Amino acid sequence: MAEPGAPRLRVDVGGGLTLKNPVIAASGTFGYGVEFAGVTDLAALGAIVVKGLSLEPSAGHPAPRLVETAAGMMNAIGLQNIGVRAFVETKLPRLRASGTAVVANFWGNVPEEYGEVAGRLSEAEGIAALEVNISSPNKREWGRIIATDPQLTREVVRAARRSSRLPLWVKLSPNVTDVTVFARIAEEEGADAVCLINTLVGMAIDLDRRRPILANRTGGLSGPAIKPVALRMVHDTVRAVRIPVIGIGGITTGDDALEFLLVGARAVQIGTASFVDPTATARIARELAQGLAARGVADIGDWIGTLDDP
Ligand SMILES: Cc1cc2nc3c(=O)[nH]c(=O)nc-3n(C[C@H](O)[C@H](O)[C@H](O)COP(=O)(O)O)c2cc1C
Repeated sequence: MAEPGAPRLRVDVGGGLTLKNPVIAASGTFGYGVEFAGVTDLAALGAIVVKGLSLEPSAGHPAPRLVETAAGMMNAIGLQNIGVRAFVETKLPRLRASGTAVVANFWGNVPEEYGEVAGRLSEAEGIAALEVNISSPNKREWGRIIATDPQLTREVVRAARRSSRLPLWVKLSPNVTDVTVFARIAEEEGADAVCLINTLVGMAIDLDRRRPILANRTGGLSGPAIKPVALRMVHDTVRAVRIPVIGIGGITTGDDALEFLLVGARAVQIGTASFVDPTATARIARELAQGLAARGVADIGDWIGTLDDP
């Protein structure tokens, strides 16, 4: 129950899905959710997006796979995961009992495989929405292809849409010239929401060994360093599509989240902040409510998308 006088936080994220609050744990930074059950109150989160799932288990890239950078970090995990079947059998039963919406992030090697994974996830009980990951930069053969290729993006979203009636979110890559082109394609192919941004491709060097630090050579930059870029891309995308936009990138406080909502995001996801503080997503949800109350906003709908001109 909300406290008396607390702002109304429920948001409509498209496809008939509403969330109790707009603060969501981002894919790849919150495991399969259940690992955090003893650490933070999962029921306090708007939703949990699980690590990207594939048809078969995947080992990901060799180590080193993480490196800290100025105001952020880079990862080259390479989409390691236990596969759809193990997720549905061993993680989902506990996760769906956690009192929060479960969103399944997933990927495939080719468009048909995306369709197959979407179909399998749709048969499982207790998944509130699917999030198609076309945007990870880690899988070299397609990180540069699907997410940055309009035609392949179209085929992947189409295959996923045909295979599922669940609300479909498409996670977009910032590693393109104009992200709104890809948001429009997702909308045209029946996506219910777009989520952005995924990580920005970067590189870190070990000077003394004269080598890249990450075994994969390059990795995805995340954390506070990318927030201004994310905010600008969300701002532009909100003005380019009619479906809800979910903002991601460098959010570490309730005020950061309020900035994304002000430019028009319907909800936000919290990624790297969970590496610093595993309770960050719940804390940000609390701070967001306090931030609205302090500004005299009784309903989050009166805040979303109300950015003024300079
Ligand atoms: C270690 C790590 C693993 C990630 N794995 C995934 C993934 O499996 N699927 C996906 O769509 N995004 C993945 N992401 C991207 C995040 O969900 C998020 O979009 C990005 O990190 C930017 O948000 P942040 O600055 O709050 O971390 C991953 C990010 C990190 C740091």
